[in-house]
Amino acid sequence: MEGVRGGRHRHSFPLPSLLLPLLLLLSSATPAAAAYAAEDAAAISRFRQYLQINTSHPNPDYAGTTAFILSLARELALDSEVLEFVPGKPLVLLKWPGRDPSLPSVLLNSHTDVVPAEPLKWAHPPFSAEVEPETGRIYARGSQDMKYVGAQYLEAVRRLRAAGFVPERTVYLSFVPDEEIGGRDGVGAFVAWERFRAMRVGVVLDEGLASSDGEYRVFHGERSVWWMVVRACGVSGHGAKLYDNSAMENLMKSVEVIRRFRAAQFDLVKNGVKAEGEVISVNMVYLKAGTTGFVMNLQPSEAEAGFDVRVPPNIDTEALERRIAEEWAPSSRNMTFEFKEKDSIHDMFGKPAVTSADSSNPWWTLLEGAIKRANGKLSKPEIFPASTDCHFFRKQGLPAFGFSPMANTPILLHDHNEFLNKAEYVKGVGIYESIIAAFASNGNHGSQSTSKGIKDEL
Ligand SMILES: *[C@@H]1O[C@H](CO)[C@@H](O)[C@H](O)[C@H]1NC(C)=O
Ligand SMILES: *[C@@H]1O[C@H](CO)[C@@H](O)[C@H](O)[C@H]1NC(C)=O
Ligand SMILES: [Zn+2]
Repeated sequence: MEGVRGGRHRHSFPLPSLLLPLLLLLSSATPAAAAYAAEDAAAISRFRQYLQINTSHPNPDYAGTTAFILSLARELALDSEVLEFVPGKPLVLLKWPGRDPSLPSVLLNSHTDVVPAEPLKWAHPPFSAEVEPETGRIYARGSQDMKYVGAQYLEAVRRLRAAGFVPERTVYLSFVPDEEIGGRDGVGAFVAWERFRAMRVGVVLDEGLASSDGEYRVFHGERSVWWMVVRACGVSGHGAKLYDNSAMENLMKSVEVIRRFRAAQFDLVKNGVKAEGEVISVNMVYLKAGTTGFVMNLQPSEAEAGFDVRVPPNIDTEALERRIAEEWAPSSRNMTFEFKEKDSIHDMFGKPAVTSADSSNPWWTLLEGAIKRANGKLSKPEIFPASTDCHFFRKQGLPAFGFSPMANTPILLHDHNEFLNKAEYVKGVGIYESIIAAFASNGNHGSQSTSKGIKDEL
């Protein structure tokens, strides 16, 4: 394909000099090219089958995905197991045994569930996985988040198997439920499973985000969720009276202080000083006042506001807590606060739950090298602004990277008309082929000078 396309741009050459190489190219490359095209078409058709299974909440068709994944596992001769930590929420665990089971293993994780879609707002039905002929876009809920990645892991394994590759380390593929509703019954239960430790996972890959330019994004940490309710009490009174210390006045002073903090954090992002995942985001999600509903001529004695706060892994949380107690909800202003949800930024060993993304981490070196060898470009490692299943793994102290090889693609996860281009899908399979080969090879590849060091450290 590339050769033919390149040839088209050489129109200024005289005809014979253009024709000869083209003919040579066609005669030698056609059978192989045809075989590749057929393989890619088969891979895309399997991807579309996966997308056509409606795993949307609140009633995901997990039986459908389980049967589908097990049938592919049989084709690929992978060991399989269906784990049901919570009835009706199966986790499919596949295993490609490594030659040396004493080495830490590689875990490729993906979730099978998707968020609901509103079919009327879509140009193509969200579970038909139609391919738009002019653009090659495959439209479906889950095409980016994240059936794409799960299907690609399997295609990469298929290619490696066909090429005769035998992994040194064991490679596990987990297809998990529940991520879109918090993941507690999926990866949360998986990492707590008594046999999880026996899998001796050394590194985890999970989802990232699409990027609109040519570089792949990679995430090595996540912001933690702090859902906070701030409440104010105050003197109630007639709606016509001006007086101090009403609950609404007390609350609005806090809202103003929090709003200024939010603006300052946002300015850091707007001015390019920090990336989105590196600042504390605070968004007010509801306001409520009164105890008996709203009465227009009464100033209520209670008022509250809810905030979705997201906290990056490297901040001083004590300082933030002090700020909340002293400035956002001071008791001197008759205010209290409560966390509806407050995730730790630390792993179980008390360290910030961040995976090193530099040469101090041999898995990072392998990942970077593998992507480069597959002609992919990686952008600077980032902190994921929201949450994914990755945080469960990092909490266990495991290195985990959020990575979905989707370049030149608008971010449409959870949006209408989610799509992925066919060519981008196929390219990503090659990226995973390279990564899995590198991770599973125990460092016996690439530059000799680094392989020994990596082998010793892993
Ligand atoms: C997909 O499943 C959800 C239930 O989880 C249902 O509400 C929705 O209508 C289904 N969509 C289609 C196209 O069948
Ligand atoms: C706090 O509440 C008490 C009791 O309602 C009230 O007397 C006092 O003025 C309030 N103070 C402030 C700062 O709102
Ligand atoms: Zn996802």
